[in-house]
Order: sequence, then C-alpha cells, then structure tokens
Amino acid sequence: MSKIKSKKEEAPLAGKPVAGLDATEAAAELARLAAEIAHHDSLYYQKDAPEVSDAAYDALRKRNEAIEARFPDLVRADSPSLKVGAAPVEAFGKVVHRVPMLSLGNVFDEEGVRDFLDRIRRFLGLDQDAELAFTAEPKIDGLSITLRYEGGRLVQAATRGDGYEGENVTANVRTIADIPHEIAAKDFPDPFEVRGEIYMSRSAFQKLNDAQAARGDRLFANPRNAAAGSLRQLDPTITASRPLAFFAYGWGEAPAPPADTQWGAYRAMKKWGFPLNPLAERTTSVEDMLKTYRDIESDRASLDYDIDGIVYKLDRLDLQERLGFVSRSPRFAIAHKFPAEQATTVLNDIEIQVGRTGALTPVAKLEPVTVGGVVVQNATLHNEDYIAGIGATARACARAAISASATRSSCSGPATSSRKCSTWVLDKRPKESKRFKFPTHCPSCGSLAVREVDEKTGKRDVVCRCTGGLICPAQRVERLKHFVSRNAFDIEGLGEKRIQELYDDNIIKSPPDIFTLEEKDKEKDPDEQLAKREGWGALSAQKLFAAIQARRAVKLDRFIYALGIRHVGEITGRLLARRYGTAETFVKAMRAAADDRSGEAFAELDNIEGIGPAVAVAIADFFAEPHNVTVVDELLKKVKPQELEAVDHASPVSGKTVVFTGTLERMTRSEAKARAERLGAKVAGSVSKNTDYVVAGPGAGSKLKNAKDLGVNVLTEDEWLALIE
Ligand code: IVH
Repeated sequence: MSKIKSKKEEAPLAGKPVAGLDATEAAAELARLAAEIAHHDSLYYQKDAPEVSDAAYDALRKRNEAIEARFPDLVRADSPSLKVGAAPVEAFGKVVHRVPMLSLGNVFDEEGVRDFLDRIRRFLGLDQDAELAFTAEPKIDGLSITLRYEGGRLVQAATRGDGYEGENVTANVRTIADIPHEIAAKDFPDPFEVRGEIYMSRSAFQKLNDAQAARGDRLFANPRNAAAGSLRQLDPTITASRPLAFFAYGWGEAPAPPADTQWGAYRAMKKWGFPLNPLAERTTSVEDMLKTYRDIESDRASLDYDIDGIVYKLDRLDLQERLGFVSRSPRFAIAHKFPAEQATTVLNDIEIQVGRTGALTPVAKLEPVTVGGVVVQNATLHNEDYIAGIGATARACARAAISASATRSSCSGPATSSRKCSTWVLDKRPKESKRFKFPTHCPSCGSLAVREVDEKTGKRDVVCRCTGGLICPAQRVERLKHFVSRNAFDIEGLGEKRIQELYDDNIIKSPPDIFTLEEKDKEKDPDEQLAKREGWGALSAQKLFAAIQARRAVKLDRFIYALGIRHVGEITGRLLARRYGTAETFVKAMRAAADDRSGEAFAELDNIEGIGPAVAVAIADFFAEPHNVTVVDELLKKVKPQELEAVDHASPVSGKTVVFTGTLERMTRSEAKARAERLGAKVAGSVSKNTDYVVAGPGAGSKLKNAKDLGVNVLTEDEWLALIE
C-alpha cells in the first residue's frame, strides 16, 4: 500500500467537515487541495508511481468539489475541477495504436457472403470461380484488446478506443488468467502485438450478477457489459475478482506476419500459448463457409459465451495485404451476423424527429420491453416507406402490437436505447387503433416536407426531408448538437440539453457563437450570466469555458466532420484531412470544387480513394451555400484546426501525385489506387503539371501523350512496383 505522509499535522483543516468551514478556511482548503491533487496527478500520470490509493485520491477530489459547491465564488483558476480530462475515467492514460484497430463490415445473409467473395475476386482480378480459402470462426461478443509483447514479455494492453487511440489497461489485463505474461518460445517475434477479444463467460456472468444482487448492487445487463465494466475498473483487484477470458484472432505490429496464412498464424499463436477459438475452421468454398455458419449457429445456445456471428477471413496473407482496407474495414474479412433477438411489445405512439440534414424520421414510442438484457422503448422506423411497406395492412397503428428487435452487439449503452423495429404483429392489433399518417409538413418549422427525386435514376428518395433549411430550428439545433458531439468538437459540458437551452434563449445560434460565449458572457449583467442560470453555477460555467478553450486546437478531421456535411462521417473527415493537410487548403479546394464541378479541384476530390461521387457532390453542395462558407470562415477565425500526423513518411511516393492510365497487368486499377493511397500518394484522374508520375500500361492514350508533352515522369507498371516496393 501507499506510503502516505500524514497531511493532518501540516493541514489542520483537512479533517474539518465542509459544512463547518467559513470562507477564509474554505479558501485555504481549496489552495491546499489544488496543490495536493496536482502533486498526485503528476505522480500518477507522468511518473506512473502513485503515492495514494485511488479511493484516497477520489476523496480529495470530492472534498474539493464539495467546498466549491458551497463557495462558488472561491473557485480557483488552477482548480482541479477545471482541468478537462482529469476525471477518474481518464485515469487510464491513452495508447496510440501503432497499427489501427479497425472493425469489420457486416453481412446478414448468404447473398451478402457471395457478394463479399465476388468483390474480392474482382478486386484481385481473379476468375469468378477461382478457388479461395477462408478461415471461419465465431465472432465473440466482447471487447477487443491489443496485447504488446517486447522481448517475449507482456508490456502493454490497450482497448480499441476509437481504433486509433485506446486506453491503457495493462494492470487489469495482467489479472486475466488466459493471457500469458511471458512467452519463452525462441520463434516468438519481437515485438509482437496479439489482438483478440476479452469476454466474460455466461456462467461467470450469472455468478457475478447473483453476487451483485446479494449485495444489493446494480446488475449488469449482459456478459459484454459486465466484461467492459470489469476491464475498466481503476482498481485491478476488482478486475481480478471478475473472471474474464480471452480469445486471440489477429495481430498488430510485428516484424513480419506470423505465417503465410491466417490459419498458419492461428497455429503459431496457439503454439505460443494464446487461447484460440476451438470452433474455428479453414474452409475452401462458399458452401463450406455457410455450413460452418449454420453448424456454429445451431450450437450457439449451448456455448458458454455470447457470439453474434461468424467472421470469415481470406486465408492467404499476401492477398490480404493486396486487398487492404476501405474506410475502417478490411476488404479481406467480413462478419456474417446471426439474426437479431426479438421480443414483442406494444406501439404507443409515433413521433417525428427532424435530423440535422432535415430528414424526418418516424420514431416508435414503445411500451418498454427487455431484449437481450436491454430495455427498449424507442425504435426508429427509418422512413415513410418502411411504415407504408409493412403498413399496407398495419399502417403503424397506435397501440398496434409490434416486434422490436435488438442486437446484442449494440447493447453497451444506457439502460434504454433506440432500436430498429422489425415486424408488425397484426393479429394482436386492438380495434381502437388509429391509422398513422405521415406528415406533409415539418413538425418543427412547418415547411413543406418532400421526397427528393434523384436526377440520375429518376427514383424518389426514401427519405422525406424538411425544405426549411436554415430557417428550420430543429435542423439548426441538430447541427449544433452534432458540432459539439463526442467525435466532433467533443465539448464537455455542452450536451444536447444545454445546446437546446442556449439555442432557445438566443445565446448560441450557430457554431461560431460557441467560441464567443465566454467573451459575451463577461459583458453581460452579472445576473444574466451563465453562472446565474438555473441548473448552472460558477463552477459549471467555468468548466464549460475551459472545455471550449481547450478545443480551439481541434484536429482537422474532427473539424471537418463537425461541419455536418451530408455523407461526411468520421472516416471521410479523416480522408479529407489527410489529403488536404490544413483547414485553409481544404476550404480553398472545396470552394473551387463547388464553383466548377468539371474543374480540377472537383476531380481531385472525387478521385480520393474512399470518396464516391455522391459524397463529392454533397461536399461541393455544402460549399456552394454562401451561409455555410460564412460559418466556416467565421469559425476559422476562432479555432485553429491541427494537421494530422503524417502517414508512412518513409514511402518514396508519399505526397506525390500519380495518374494510372492504360491497362494494368499485375493488379486491378482499384488495387493500384488503394495501394498508392496507403503509401501516402494522391491518385488523380487527369494529368497536369502537378502530376509527379504517370503509370502507363498498354493502350494508354491521351493521358500518356499529355504527360510526355508536360515532361511528367512516365513509368511502366513494373517500374512503379519497383519504386513502391
Ligand atoms: S477480426 C480489422 N475476428 O468484432 C478487424 N474480430 O466488428 C479485424 N470480433 O473489433 C477483426 N470476434 O472486437 C475479428 N473472431 C473475430 C472476432 C472479432 C469478435 C470483434 C472485434 C472487432 C469487431 C469488428
């Protein structure tokens, strides 16, 4: 245990109840606590050598908070409560993954599996009947983890986090019996990162919940939540008392792949002492893959751990390497999910929600029902077609009985959550049910709601949208909520409720207002300041200002994502940030793309690997709207988006612009493009003076001629491969 110096003699007020402190004493105590907490933070975070127990540390912070709550005017500028990110859950420390921990695409039926195989063959330029081997194994419903070994010793364990940065949970992982601390085998690579899933068996979960119940403690909803809760304990002795288990299924950083095939790698990892799932199979045909799926599905109920599908991985690692990744998922692996669990409940009402892009989404208000351990009381009905489709007879009747379904894998949220609603049970519909009519006007601003027609296909969009644009309060509020949300600006203390409140009171109408909040607040009459508002206080106002201040140096990908451009999610935000580097270059290029859809800027945008034409058009449309440009310009006067760390600097083609033309013989065009992008090159569709290389195959025409005219370096496919390899 800790060698805690008794602070009592040095700090005579330390034991005095908060209620008994006068203002002078409170000020002295706050000063002492600020210094003491800063001292422990430094020992914990920088030196990894804490001097006090977590409980003792928490007690100091709680005392600090209690005094501040009683004496809000005495909150110090260096108060520990104002330090963003110093909350106990942050105590784990961050780990940047050397190899990102990405996720898997999903398919739900045989056709999806066949499409997956077709896509692989097409990408690799193989015949459609070429034989390919795959591993097929259960998808464990737990938490992914990466275990780093150096010199054969476990030195670090980290959660997945956002895939690029996770939490350091080494101490907790060391308590898991399945995970070796040391590996003596001579052929064990150094360094080696093993990846896999931590889970809690169903029997252990049952026991844990029985014990929780006996103590009157809160029950865990399912084994996955129990595993997550156990792994994220600040006290490793608690983790040690919760039986967690582990299955390995992959690797991260390694000097070389552990074998030539996935199956060979599994054998190697097993030999080194890692638990591998005994149900994994090596399959050589789609029929074989589907048979494994059915076999494991039929055994699912008898397993002592939760699984939610089967993962197929292309066996040959050289082909995996060639296939690479699209957005966050590998092209060489996929999850074939089991059908979702179902439960029946009653539909009480339907509400229409207006999203940030104006989409009107019907949300079913359900009689709460438990599915897979989670209470479901809202279910999105997706769109009008969905209701009409099933509603040809049901028409989403008020108080009709419906089935709500939930998948376990998404059950980590709070006790109640929105879930997809599936089939309607019509014969249980009460007589007094009312027919649901989809609104013709936006419930927020009253503008007409329309279903747009796609110019190319002539089809009506499935989504009904409010035409109010920026006059629609619901859209504006939703955009603001998105702007401050966790994966965007991540402004702590500015949750959905507060955004709504500050919007309604004309304090924050658009994103730039967030960054003038403090300045404008100071100019106000003290009685009208945030600190005096109901539900606020000096502390929460100061905390919010500090959080906003800290986010002025937001990363560029988050900045782009935060703008809320239609179709631009986190991945696209990252792709754009990587391609354009700085906010200024990005905005300049997007304005040029918006001004001229057949110009070079638009072509460059459209050509980015991972950005399709619909996304490029949506981005150009966003920048064609003067109001959006004004908002972006205003924002850039107040925030300084930071460039992302560079990718693969060592690559000779990093930062170079490449054009492929003619027929490639060693790989398909998509593969060549994906590989070049991975090495940090920009792949363009047309040749200009900015082009660094033109890779020309047989049949190359005008682009090759252009390249020669402009004096651009022309390479054969083999020369290109020699350059990048
Ligand atoms: S392979 C590039 N294999 O599923 C990602 N993942 O949706 C490769 N999971 O984050 C992952 N069982 O936590 C793989 N046998 C298995 C798995 C598995 C569970 C989880 C994993 C991953 C998530 C992807």
